[in-house]
Amino acid sequence: MSHVEQLTSANEEAIRAWDGPLFDAFVRFRHLMTTGLGAHGEEALRLVPPRAGERVLDIGCGFGDTTQRIAGLVGPTGEVLGVDAAPRFIKTAKHEAEEAGIDNVRFEVADIENAAFGERFELAFSRMGTMFFANPVAALRNVREALRPDGRLVMVVWRAKVENDWLYRAQTITERFVTKPEEYDEPTCGPGPFSMANADTTSGILLSAGFENVALRRCDIPITIGLHMDEAVEFVMSLGPAGEILRLAGEHAAHLHEPVADALREGLAEWDGPDGVTAPASTWIVTADAP
Ligand SMILES: C[S@@+](CC[C@H](N)C(=O)[O-])C[C@H]1O[C@@H](n2cnc3c(N)ncnc32)[C@H](O)[C@@H]1O
Repeated sequence: MSHVEQLTSANEEAIRAWDGPLFDAFVRFRHLMTTGLGAHGEEALRLVPPRAGERVLDIGCGFGDTTQRIAGLVGPTGEVLGVDAAPRFIKTAKHEAEEAGIDNVRFEVADIENAAFGERFELAFSRMGTMFFANPVAALRNVREALRPDGRLVMVVWRAKVENDWLYRAQTITERFVTKPEEYDEPTCGPGPFSMANADTTSGILLSAGFENVALRRCDIPITIGLHMDEAVEFVMSLGPAGEILRLAGEHAAHLHEPVADALREGLAEWDGPDGVTAPASTWIVTADAP
């Protein structure tokens, strides 16, 4: 029986995006995402280490890479619940954890914003899984209510676009050729990856959700966005703000993909090196306590 009670969802469109085109893009570029985001996630785990025997909630767990990692840290007496709103991510996460023989993880499909957890956790962790809620205060209040008194929250979120110039530059270059259509049929992922970039907004959301001792630490670790330039160009044309503009523009912009790709090749060139295309990347590692 499911431990997470699910109500109706204001995130229905975002969930369709995550379970559809974004899942496909994450499968394709997983080797870049997990390695690149991996270093930022590890820094979060270093700052707020899960302790042996703890019960941990992994919010927006995706393929469950971090869920498995945390399962190793809490050990056999601890347990990790990975929750994601997109069923295809959870299906993969369950399958991979089973294949790896990890038995102190569970995975559930749930929209955090509308979930009522029938259990309590000592730690809530998220690597890039908290920026896409229609109502982040409601979602993070659910997380806070799922924590025991003195429970900790740690989440990794993108800092400002300008500090993640590979994404921002890809967007501005793409916008020289294609503008985001006013109407589109494709689903979008809600407020988007930079919705927690502003420190005041993010700390305000957490305080409104009932958290205390909110702190944001800047984390700058470069990310390899392609093992070679062609892959970097395909990556930014598939995910992030440039990817979304192109996806929403659909077939109408197909003839512009080649000039966009050429301009991106030029725009990303300064980060091209012998080991691939590696660009500066900046996140907040946000910590907070439940009262
Ligand atoms: C950028 S991915 C990060 C995945 C994973 N944490 C990682 O670091 O590889 C964001 C994840 O959040 C999930 N997500 C988005 N909105 C959600 C919601 N309302 N409730 C639960 N998960 C959500 C998406 O399905 C997606 O798997």
